[in-house]
Amino acid sequence: MKQPLLSKEDDMRVEQLLSRMNLEQKIGQMTQTERMTVTPEEVKSFHLGSVLSGGGSAPGKNQPTDWLAMCDEYWASSMEEDSEHIAIPILYGVDAVHGHNNVRGATLFPHNIGLGAANDPELVFKISQATAREMLATGVNWTFDPALSVARDDKWGRTYESYSEDPEIVERFAPEAIHGLQKAGGVVACAKHWLGDGGTSHGLDQGNTVMSESELVALHMSPYLPAFDAGVLTVMASFSSWNDDKCHGHKYLITDKLKHELGFEGFVISDWDGIDYTTEDYSDAIKIALMAGIDMFMVSEKWKKFIALMHDLAVSGAVPMSRIDDAVRRILRVKIAAGLFEETKPSTRAKAYQRSFGDSDHRDIAREAVRKSLVLLKNEDAILPLNNESRILVTGKNAHDRGHQCGGWSVSWQGESGNDHIEGGSSVWEGIKAVAPNAILSEDGSDANSELHDVAIIVIGETPYAEGLGDIREGDDILVEAGSDINGLISPLDPYGSTLVLADLHPEDLKAIRKVTQLGIPAVVVLISGRPLVVEAELDESSAFVAAWLPGSEGQGIADVIFGEYDFEGRLSFSWPKNATDNFNRGDDDYTPRFKYGFGLNYRDDADQAQSHLTSTEHAPEYRNAG
Ligand code: GLC
Repeated sequence: MKQPLLSKEDDMRVEQLLSRMNLEQKIGQMTQTERMTVTPEEVKSFHLGSVLSGGGSAPGKNQPTDWLAMCDEYWASSMEEDSEHIAIPILYGVDAVHGHNNVRGATLFPHNIGLGAANDPELVFKISQATAREMLATGVNWTFDPALSVARDDKWGRTYESYSEDPEIVERFAPEAIHGLQKAGGVVACAKHWLGDGGTSHGLDQGNTVMSESELVALHMSPYLPAFDAGVLTVMASFSSWNDDKCHGHKYLITDKLKHELGFEGFVISDWDGIDYTTEDYSDAIKIALMAGIDMFMVSEKWKKFIALMHDLAVSGAVPMSRIDDAVRRILRVKIAAGLFEETKPSTRAKAYQRSFGDSDHRDIAREAVRKSLVLLKNEDAILPLNNESRILVTGKNAHDRGHQCGGWSVSWQGESGNDHIEGGSSVWEGIKAVAPNAILSEDGSDANSELHDVAIIVIGETPYAEGLGDIREGDDILVEAGSDINGLISPLDPYGSTLVLADLHPEDLKAIRKVTQLGIPAVVVLISGRPLVVEAELDESSAFVAAWLPGSEGQGIADVIFGEYDFEGRLSFSWPKNATDNFNRGDDDYTPRFKYGFGLNYRDDADQAQSHLTSTEHAPEYRNAG
């Protein structure tokens, strides 16, 4: 039996506070806006409940001290009680989705798709707790994480934010993430995006999820149940639609299902101007979303207009005060449950966490996660593990690019190229160089020489993207299919490409491999990507092939396994396609992917097989289990 969110005494505190609040203060509490559009003084004068940083929105030089100064200012304004303003501490929200990833120098963990392959719930807890610590070191107390998306089509630009195509792993990870962030970490978590964000047709971001309620429940709702049991305090509505109805205006999904049937006691926040896509008229959009059950509104810029229109709706009786009171009550309950009213200003609280920001303990956890996330898809003649004394040519566009290995949501919203933005950590090349004295980096492969090199490690794959900008769209016709009124239903961003076939998407990668293999140098290929891709041509040219996903700042974890200090443990949490048109998911009737869900090779198996052919005097190399 789940404990009630608050004690009776705290429930009384909420009612007393609510009874003191006037309409402006209530509407202000329901408003969240972006730091670039609001001053600390306005947080007080408009009684705002929350401020956020959109992806990459950072103060000053984007150092922890800049964040602390900013959070102190907003907090102090929210707490400055006078005749006009009641002291209610703000929540400062960010997308800390693979570490405190907006901030320079933060530890960046593998994105969720890699954690799904690692399939280690305890690791998810440790990562979430470390992320919370690094957030609190900068004064931030709310993250829009974990995404409980079950990504069913690899063409979706947010596939890498999903742990798996199958709810089984997501169900197991959800409570670990919530406990790591909230219970152990001391920040507020947010399960997102409610509901069915990963199930849209063609994987179109913000598109339309077409399925029965029983399918929606089984595939996309099931991971939320353990999240609720773990006490997640907030839920974010999805931009997408369910059977053509926008989730942001879906009273059945948000109020009847989430709040009443499932008994969710926290509050529901809209996504970034997500209410705008419920209908053309803004006042109507506010009313639709409020009456559907949205409690806090993420309004990126026009928040003063939002407040004015909500005020008019309330005063005119177009929306009942009972719904406004219910929304504010939920917000206050969350703030009390999170202990915000007992907190001193962020910088005093941060002192306990300063040392941990980007420190070696956290980076060790990230490095362990990298190791465990790697999936070995091919290992011809057991070429791996490599001997670290070998003469190794390291090449490929992603060999020495910490930005690319971190992917989207890394210092900036869309992610970066190069190494400057990602302070600390190691690129794949830097990890190899640290253990292989005879390795050289040749970014364009021009140094390849069969006389000089025993083997090549070629790091290929995608460049960073986030959200719709990562979509693969085979044609614009699918935009029309997603909704008759494109302006009203989705905000399509330009796609990343039009095919999942890597040789077409990034032809430079196959060229880089062939530049080496045509000289007779065997190729160990490492794929940096936010999703499975069709890699038949690249696989054929490779002696070994490793899916590394988006490993984050600690690229050294790849060398740890390539040279055999640790064995591969990763298993696919997504089915791997063979043809451009494939879209297999675990449990499909006709299931013939290139590699099945759960596939992954390792050295132990190879060694066991090798063992059976070795003479008794020899023995298979010992591999320390990945710790
Ligand atoms: C974005 C994303 C959501 C994120 C929010 C705030 O559009 O859909 O996942 O939490 O805006 O950055």
